[in-house]
Amino acid sequence: MTVAVPMPHNRRPARCPFRPDAGLERLRDDPDLSRVTTSNPQLGPFDAVLVTRFDEVRQVLADARYEAGFAFDGSGPRTVMNQPGILLNYDGPEHTHYRRMLSGAFTVKRVRALAPAVRRVVDERLDALEQAGPGADLIETFAGPVPLLVICELLGIPAEDREGVQRRSAIGTDVGNTLETQLENFAAMAAYMGDLIRRQRAQPGDDILGDLIRRHGADLSDDELVGMGNSILVAGHETVSSMIGLSTLALLEDPGQLAAVRDDESVTTGAVEELLRLLSVAPPLVRQASTDLELGGRPVKAGERVLLSTLAAHHGVGLVAGEPGRLDVRRRPVAHLAFGYGAHQCIGQQLARLELQIALPALLRRLPALRLAAGFDAVEYREEALVYGVARLPVAW
Ligand code: HEM
Repeated sequence: MTVAVPMPHNRRPARCPFRPDAGLERLRDDPDLSRVTTSNPQLGPFDAVLVTRFDEVRQVLADARYEAGFAFDGSGPRTVMNQPGILLNYDGPEHTHYRRMLSGAFTVKRVRALAPAVRRVVDERLDALEQAGPGADLIETFAGPVPLLVICELLGIPAEDREGVQRRSAIGTDVGNTLETQLENFAAMAAYMGDLIRRQRAQPGDDILGDLIRRHGADLSDDELVGMGNSILVAGHETVSSMIGLSTLALLEDPGQLAAVRDDESVTTGAVEELLRLLSVAPPLVRQASTDLELGGRPVKAGERVLLSTLAAHHGVGLVAGEPGRLDVRRRPVAHLAFGYGAHQCIGQQLARLELQIALPALLRRLPALRLAAGFDAVEYREEALVYGVARLPVAW
């Protein structure tokens, strides 16, 4: 039987953003692999095998015979995803070739060196939040700008260009927009990044784009650099922004957990891992079987698409002790899949962790009486967005 799964399939119950909805839970508990019909902005509507159990999601991600780059058409029209240089568009040696060029920029050591810049951005945005006063929207004033400004520093995007970058990035990740709007917006994103790359080629800056151009500029076309630059911009912005917003909401809903993150530095690392697991903000991951395969003794045919729900996997029985839908910042961290797994595991995960580990405690310490300006029932979610999140979060203190 094929079940229609709304986009994004990782939908949560109304007014409860912290667990999968009942339909997804039911599909996970089904002993058969469910065949679903869904859609995403890159592929449009498509049929897929839905994988919801933790071990099986990890197994697929670890197996190179499930390919990621199947939809990429190098000679087709350019869109947000159909662009050379985007790591998720490649498999095997081609993927390794591009990934190696970028991974030097994201080593633990290089990311640690970014901590003072992240702290400065967080402090500046907290000043802005205080100046805006009670009633300010946490997403607009803090959760959105922090990761955007960090990525802009990383890519060497000048201050005066950042508003335009934010606007285009928001359009690019809003699946509610028409294809025409998306194509128009992508053309503007590509034009901006192309211009930045030409400036950086003339005078490489002290940032990852400048570094990439210095070390690999001769081997990479402008087209490939546009893909790399824009994919980092998009992948590293909405995800972290959404994590800051939803994490704040989850903590405000549970004052005991909030107090632990605010007052006890020793819980910070574990709290961020727990929030990454619980909230699972990334969209479902998609792969395509390159040959006939088996998953848990059940067949997956060559050419079949596979849709991996990390949200459902993270909320299944047995992954964590106790209730998986309850936030427990002192829980022993588990090896979750919030950043994926295997060859395509998130290249920016150390940076994402750094931002969350700095931003969340800093927010709660600067505004110890932080609360929602309206009740929990008034919170609006970005249900149609590729990356799940809170649309607006008016706060008071
Ligand atoms: C909390 C924040 C983040 C989450 C939850 C997240 C999640 C993910 C996931 C699940 C994947 C794997 C996709 C797949 O296998 O299909 C991924 C890949 C990727 N992420 Fe992230 N990400 C985050 C932050 C970032 C940041 C900050 C950057 C860059 C600055 C970034 C850049 C990338 C890139 C370039 C890839 C593709 C890697 C490859 O294909 O080899 N992400 N991310």
